[in-house]
Amino acid sequence: MEYNHFMPTRLVCKKDCVKEFDFSKFGRKAILVTGRTGAVKSGAQGDVVSALERADIAYTVFNSIEENPSIESCAAAGSAAREYGADFMIAIGGGSAMDAAKAAAVYATNDFGSPLDIYLGIPKKPLPLIVVGTTSGTGSEVTAVSVITVSADGMRYKKSLKSPRLYPLYALIDPKYTYKLPWEITLSTALDVLAHAIESLYSVKAGEMSMLFASEALSRAWDALKKAHWQTFVEFRDINEDVRDELSYAAILAGMAINITGTCFAHAVSYPLSVVKYVPHGVACAHSLIPFLKTVRGEDPRRDDIFETAVGYGFEEFYEDLKKLLPEPPSLSYAEVDEFTALTSQSASLKNSIVPLTPSGVEKLYDAMHR
Ligand SMILES: [Fe+2]
Repeated sequence: MEYNHFMPTRLVCKKDCVKEFDFSKFGRKAILVTGRTGAVKSGAQGDVVSALERADIAYTVFNSIEENPSIESCAAAGSAAREYGADFMIAIGGGSAMDAAKAAAVYATNDFGSPLDIYLGIPKKPLPLIVVGTTSGTGSEVTAVSVITVSADGMRYKKSLKSPRLYPLYALIDPKYTYKLPWEITLSTALDVLAHAIESLYSVKAGEMSMLFASEALSRAWDALKKAHWQTFVEFRDINEDVRDELSYAAILAGMAINITGTCFAHAVSYPLSVVKYVPHGVACAHSLIPFLKTVRGEDPRRDDIFETAVGYGFEEFYEDLKKLLPEPPSLSYAEVDEFTALTSQSASLKNSIVPLTPSGVEKLYDAMHR
């Protein structure tokens, strides 16, 4: 047996942990990096601000991070931090705000000739980063990765930035910020958790520890997602807090799993669907989850057992239940099928699953979305 584990972010999960947090150890000036509405609506920004004011810490807010954050927004947030003289950064939001803040914290302390040079290496330590999640999906709290949208050669695509320097210093997890999330966001973020857990389970980099995180995440996320769906559409009531708490914990566990293994082709295939067709990230990943499982199933009986034990029944029943939750895939033109295939075929993630996906396999997946 072998393992080699590194995840240096301190995780604090407790009711009101943000409101009660002592930010004074990080300095006297903070910059908050958020999207346009989620940070305020969830109540998280209010809690951060009250903790900062109590500690007499000055702050500014950079609140224009978009979904699928662009490299330009990340660089702009970094410049804002530098101009303000921020001692530390607080990201509030879902994966987009967290991923953008990871890069922004780097831009704040490093001088690059062009924003794209961030991919060549991170010479100086980024600003200390504290993240406050408002959704249950991304797992970005516990990973050394930031997925950024870049424009080059007339195309827009997602490019992962990876460095141990990207780990947040602290992740403050209070699931109450997710209690009022609408169904669409709850579904998409929970599907992202499922994708993380399933792709990690079947990764070539999986080991004892990642499989432990992945199986626990899968079991909890699948059970909670089915309960959330039942409460919303059969009982016509709000999703209860226990279910929300489960989704939050499952998201962190799945993040721990992909922190070890990375993601596989369901994620790689999803990226153009999000950047060009505006499909929410988790839904975009989930469109390839059944083909992913059909590709890898049978290659390693132990992982198949872990999968079936975690979801509580066989693959075929799982496919049927997942199909009931999935919205319609986007309609792709032939030109889009070709463009997305060319883009995705270069992804290293295609080789990260125990059965790799070939470029013709990629084309088949997009072709199935042609209308
Ligand atoms: Fe994801």
